[in-house]
Amino acid sequence: MEFFIKATILSSRELFNNRLLLRSALKNTERMISSQSFKYDDLAVNQSVNLQPLPDPSTLFFGKVFSDHMLKIEWTESDGWGKPQITPLHYLLMHPGSKVLHYAQAVFEGMKAFKRPDSKVALFRPDLNMKRLLASAERASLPSFDCEELLKCIKKLISVDLRCVPDDGKSSLYVRPTYIGSENSLGVSPAKTALLYVVTCPSGPYFKTGLTQPVSLLADPNYVRACPGGAGAYKLAANYAPSLYVQKLAQDQGLHQVLWLYGKDHQVCEAGAMNVFFLLKNESGQLELVTPPLDGTILPGVTRQSILDLARSWKEFEVSERNIVMQELINLNKENRLLEMFICGTACTLCPVNLIRFEGNDIKIPTMESGNEMYLRFMKAITDIQYGRIQSDWSVPIE
Ligand SMILES: Cc1ncc(COP(=O)(O)O)c(C=O)c1O
Repeated sequence: MEFFIKATILSSRELFNNRLLLRSALKNTERMISSQSFKYDDLAVNQSVNLQPLPDPSTLFFGKVFSDHMLKIEWTESDGWGKPQITPLHYLLMHPGSKVLHYAQAVFEGMKAFKRPDSKVALFRPDLNMKRLLASAERASLPSFDCEELLKCIKKLISVDLRCVPDDGKSSLYVRPTYIGSENSLGVSPAKTALLYVVTCPSGPYFKTGLTQPVSLLADPNYVRACPGGAGAYKLAANYAPSLYVQKLAQDQGLHQVLWLYGKDHQVCEAGAMNVFFLLKNESGQLELVTPPLDGTILPGVTRQSILDLARSWKEFEVSERNIVMQELINLNKENRLLEMFICGTACTLCPVNLIRFEGNDIKIPTMESGNEMYLRFMKAITDIQYGRIQSDWSVPIE
């Protein structure tokens, strides 16, 4: 009996201890979960009292004028994510030893918000940008976050600066999420503090005249943008600085952009900061739309994905994500089977290509000459969705 009482007392004490342990474990888990992402519900808004005059949409270029507010969220290794804040746009105070300034621990995104005829402002497939930002962050050893929470904060930022979204049916609000390792320390290691921020810019149309102008490309096999195992599939800031030198080489030759190649067989990768597409007649005489595959060297563009999705839904021609090399392009062109080449990205949506300079020869591409251009059809389909002229799930209203 004595033994039984002792055992009961012991087990109830154990139970009490276990309960305490469990409670503290749950608290730790809660803390861990909340530090894994900031929450939209914690967002604080500090409205600017000094709003700038709105620019005339016809004077807008890309990324020169900034809206009145920004979104900021800080992370530290010790405390996890802080509370998101929308504040008046301001300079960042940064220590000269911040890791981002030395080792480019920085990733970013580019997306647009459009004013629709129903007066709603909508983003174009923003879930894809959020996923890509998270993938880029992981590749750059920056802490993860919840994509849906970030998207809700971005929608709120746009709604605070609603008056900055141009409504001329041609311009848009460019949205630039940026994520940096901010710790002041010169060791080459992941930063123990980070800052995720978003700024927005009312931006004009890429082509001022409304007409898409063809571009010419320099394909110089001496330079690569990305390689297998590298970080070309992510939007790391470090991918862009080395491209500027090669871009200058193209401009010095009177050409618009660089056509990035890879490998001894000169596989076509991307053009400038855009994805590439070819419309051709294949050996069996079938129409085929070709874009290079996501093999780790190609940025998975939202516009690229949208063109593939549209083309597959039309079911009118073959759609291939496959390698295409310069010799194949040269042969196709000689046999008049290369019909169109275009490049695509958030900035211009789609842009036709009429020339590639490769190893001293100019390959002239008849993209603009069919009178029934496919790139114009894609351009119309995408911009109709973006500006809400046709209804689609890809157009995501901010409220
Ligand atoms: C290297 C590169 N390729 C392609 C693209 C096009 O991607 P998206 O259509 O998502 O703008 C971009 C722009 O983000 C880019 O920087």
